[in-house]
Amino acid sequence: MFSYQHIYHAGSLADVHKHALLAVLLEYLAAKEPALSYFETHAGRGVYDLSAPEAKKTGEAKLGILSLLKDRVLPKDHPFMRALATFVRAHGPKMYPGSPSLAQILLRPDDALHFMELHPQEFDHLRRHFAHSHAHVSKRDGYQGVWALSPPTPRRGVVLIDPSYEDKGEYARTVDFAEDLATRWCEATLMVWYPVLRAGHEAALRQAVARSTLSSKTWELSFPAKVTGYGLTGTGVTLFNVPTGVEESLNATHALLDTWLQGL
Ligand SMILES: C[S@@+](CC[C@H](N)C(=O)[O-])C[C@H]1O[C@@H](n2cnc3c(N)ncnc32)[C@H](O)[C@@H]1O
Repeated sequence: MFSYQHIYHAGSLADVHKHALLAVLLEYLAAKEPALSYFETHAGRGVYDLSAPEAKKTGEAKLGILSLLKDRVLPKDHPFMRALATFVRAHGPKMYPGSPSLAQILLRPDDALHFMELHPQEFDHLRRHFAHSHAHVSKRDGYQGVWALSPPTPRRGVVLIDPSYEDKGEYARTVDFAEDLATRWCEATLMVWYPVLRAGHEAALRQAVARSTLSSKTWELSFPAKVTGYGLTGTGVTLFNVPTGVEESLNATHALLDTWLQGL
């Protein structure tokens, strides 16, 4: 059950896509009152050492974040670039922020942060990393954890659903969970990340999104042939209940990444 460890994929093209769109969304929401509740069902360890043997073994960061920075794909004032610069100033140039760290940087002290992680070692890292912060970290199933705490106070908020998809059933489960959660917490914006695979397992997720009664928008990137590996041919992000006014900025970020990738 616990064979997946995100350190092998930290800073990959998939992370870059997910984290750049997440940063745009969070910066947009944090610019307005009232405060937010931010949840992650699958938090990972929150901080990744790109010089660690596991990260070096796959070399995914080289094609992902390191290549993005080298090619200056996103402007310096993009929220992802600014959050990355803040993170690197605090932790050093070899470290890469997981989604919980990006959220901590981009959100405000009065926003509530809740991170769920089930893997014992990943949770240990996560707990230590956020020990002196106001974030709540829980070693529990992310779906059950978010469900139990919903609707939260404050009710304005976001849930990132970012599983490892080790089980094929997870593709439809993410969307089913988003639908169920929306019946309990209708104000929530729900963000689902998914891999696009040579095997095509993500079709179940796309079908579930098409059937869903929730409003949604999806951004998918295809990787050029020379950077596809491990059966991964692209990456997708679906947002349910997209906040009014942010779609244009999300489209613009996605387009910059897409143009860059197609030119590689
Ligand atoms: C893709 S990684 C998360 C990456 C992280 N969101 C980021 O972008 O930095 C998925 C994580 O989910 C954890 N996990 C798997 N099943 C889980 C579950 N049912 N509840 C909570 N965490 C789970 C894995 O241990 C892994 O650390």
